[in-house]
Amino acid sequence: TERSYIMLKPDAVQRGLVGEIVQRFEKRGFKLVALKLVTPSLEMAQKHYYDLAERPFFPTLCKFLSSGPVVAMVFEGEDVIRQGRRMIGATSPLAADPGTIRGDLAIITGKNIIHGSDSKESAEAEIALWFKPEELNSWKKTDVEAWVYE
Ligand code: GTP
Ligand code: MG
Repeated sequence: TERSYIMLKPDAVQRGLVGEIVQRFEKRGFKLVALKLVTPSLEMAQKHYYDLAERPFFPTLCKFLSSGPVVAMVFEGEDVIRQGRRMIGATSPLAADPGTIRGDLAIITGKNIIHGSDSKESAEAEIALWFKPEELNSWKKTDVEAWVYE
């Protein structure tokens, strides 16, 4: 079963949306295996978004991500990388469908409240960037697993 790096950006924390967004992943049946509140350094933000380094909005994006605390999380479950992206919705909240996190809770691309890994490779790299191995918890979700999966 796979893991995805999910991060609530500083705007989500400022707006008090942490509980609501975490709840959507929990309710879907995905398992929380790591969570911490951290204010990223500019260097950390640049490492996280390294693939966008050549884009004109890169400096603004990194400054924004390091402007305050973010909620760094790892969720585990079947197809969680792709499903997480579906739950999050399109990069531009104006294009994101209602029912998605961005489509319900955000308006502009630069303040789109949440990040989700977009591939197995990026999930692995992002989890390693944000968490030490001992911060990842292996635990059995005994009550729900039988009722979510076959
Ligand atoms: P993340 O989950 O945060 O990685 O978003 P994404 O995968 O939907 O989009 P992408 O990785 O392409 O871009 C990362 C972030 O950069 C986005 O979430 C936006 O906040 C920001 N971004 C992307 N494209 C633009 C743009 O054209 N203009 C501005 N201002 N910001 C952008
Ligand atoms: Mg991305």
